[in-house]
Amino acid sequence: MIEVQNLSHDIHGAPILRDISVTVPKGGVTALVGPNGAGKSTLLSLMARLIPRQQGRITVDELVVGESDDKDLARRLAILPQTVHAASRLTVRDLVGFGRYPYHRGRPTPDDRAMVEDGMRLFDLLPLAERSLDTLSGGQRQRAFVAMTYVQDTDYLLLDEPLNNLDLAASRALMARLRDLADNKDRTVIIVLHDINFATAYADRVLVMKEGRLCADGAPQDVITETLIQSVFETDAPLRTVEGRPVVMV
Ligand SMILES: Nc1ncnc2c1ncn2[C@@H]1O[C@H](COP(=O)(O)OP(=O)(O)OP(=O)(O)O)[C@@H](O)[C@H]1O
Ligand SMILES: [Mg+2]
Repeated sequence: MIEVQNLSHDIHGAPILRDISVTVPKGGVTALVGPNGAGKSTLLSLMARLIPRQQGRITVDELVVGESDDKDLARRLAILPQTVHAASRLTVRDLVGFGRYPYHRGRPTPDDRAMVEDGMRLFDLLPLAERSLDTLSGGQRQRAFVAMTYVQDTDYLLLDEPLNNLDLAASRALMARLRDLADNKDRTVIIVLHDINFATAYADRVLVMKEGRLCADGAPQDVITETLIQSVFETDAPLRTVEGRPVVMV
């Protein structure tokens, strides 16, 4: 369980997150949605301690973010940030292999190597294993970063817009794999999505943010309404219910 209590965050004096309290239960897929600039990436970065906490408290199971040992947190929670930089000469296998670093600290064991192969297989990267990152398409590169996050073998996976650059088939395949990790491998997935239809199709729960505040939290069919789309995104996209699921008509 990740518990966020009274989290506020300022950047250069501007309030970015305002008094957020939320509990993400263990297991399942939670989607984080909201307009550009709402604070989604900032919230995820604080959970993963990529940026230091100013006010409030975040716990990941028994670990207190910012107080517990960073190594313990790294083995419990992995994050794929929205933008990541990696040396373009790295091969896919090397990049995915970096995900095992917190375990082996530079001396990979056969188990580490097996996990890397498993990650590449799971995310359809085996044919690209020897390719360097600068030769990949945007979507292939994105999948390699998701695999690197996966092989960290953590209970919690935080993914900030992993569908960026992915085509429809690759997006559906990735979401189905994340669903499977949550359903069958006890992983907890928190994923920032812009496409509400992917959120309602694959997530158990949706958290909606606007202007640094959490404004809705619940099952997709309860949370995603035409009124919410209008008030949060300030656009009048109609909503239909298809097979019990809300679908935004874009
Ligand atoms: N380092 C920074 N310096 C100044 N402002 C920042 C910084 N990081 C974030 N912000 C501001 O904080 C606000 C929230 O940013 P954040 O990246 O968390 O939004 P987001 O919901 O992830 O948006 P997007 O959907 O566009 O990725 C934005 O207004 C952004 O400009
Ligand atoms: Mg963001």
